[in-house]
Amino acid sequence: MNQRPEMSTGAAWSSGVGEAVASTQRSVVSPATAPLPAIDTTVAHPARRYDYWLGGKTHYAVDRASGDAVAAAFPAIRTAVLENRRFLQRAVAVLARDHGIDQFLDIGTGIPSAGNTHEIAQQIIPSARVVYADNDPVVLMHARALLDSSDPGRTAYIHGDLRDPATILDDPALTATLDLSHPIGLMLIAVLHFLVDQDEPHRIVRQLVDMLPAGSFVVLSHATYDFMPAEELAALADRAVPSHGPFRPRSRAEVSRFLTGLHLLDPGLVSGNEWRADDEPAPRPSAAETALYAAVARKP
Ligand SMILES: C[S@@+](CC[C@H](N)C(=O)[O-])C[C@H]1O[C@@H](n2cnc3c(N)ncnc32)[C@H](O)[C@@H]1O
Repeated sequence: MNQRPEMSTGAAWSSGVGEAVASTQRSVVSPATAPLPAIDTTVAHPARRYDYWLGGKTHYAVDRASGDAVAAAFPAIRTAVLENRRFLQRAVAVLARDHGIDQFLDIGTGIPSAGNTHEIAQQIIPSARVVYADNDPVVLMHARALLDSSDPGRTAYIHGDLRDPATILDDPALTATLDLSHPIGLMLIAVLHFLVDQDEPHRIVRQLVDMLPAGSFVVLSHATYDFMPAEELAALADRAVPSHGPFRPRSRAEVSRFLTGLHLLDPGLVSGNEWRADDEPAPRPSAAETALYAAVARKP
């Protein structure tokens, strides 16, 4: 097992959430006065395990064990998460550059990594505004890095749960940061597969899309087993992979339903490695290695 030292909890956040609010008026963590929720180091968490695969530093032994177990069954997992990240960055750049989108709501943010949504958007539109939302206390702990907004841009972070969209939509930081009467890029990147069918993810996405003004975009990536060779699928099923709770990969038809009523940008709903990837360095990974559907769609 990796002998990397445990991450230090709280060092990045020792003075509490309120300090980030005070640090700059362009940035806000909401709710500013809430106590930091407890961090469970005995169960793997999606954000920390994803950070491990991405080569970050914010993970515990339990996350690494879970990550290694998945990698043993699906050796391309690190390729898959890097491809997901690249899709996120290409999609944000396309929306900002080609469609003038200067506001983003990024739900299921993840632990800050290279090329976060606001960094990509603000390189193109310096005044771009981004609201991040995640339900993992570790992401909250590191939210300060997401608040490093360029001037005159602006960022905010909401500790909220996609399964209960009101925790995000009713948060004052949302309307304090974004103008809901102008088009928004709604980012749902590698998060919907953590909602099981009982969570009613299709109803939740519909609720989110309904609040978007016309001309907004949905950017979505979603894990799938559709491209996976049978023997790899069997290996995944056979191994007792230490999990972090629910994980629900979906088929093309199931992912497509999230985009009902929206107009897909070219090339449509495709494997994440194929979405406008012409400028990515060769050789490109295969769809089987990427294990991800990706799409960008416009609300008419
Ligand atoms: C695989 S990471 C993806 C991070 C980032 N979107 C990206 O693609 O690089 C999934 C993120 O979704 C978050 N997440 C999972 N379930 C969630 C929920 N119900 N509400 C909000 N965030 C959630 C996790 O905490 C994690 O940070």
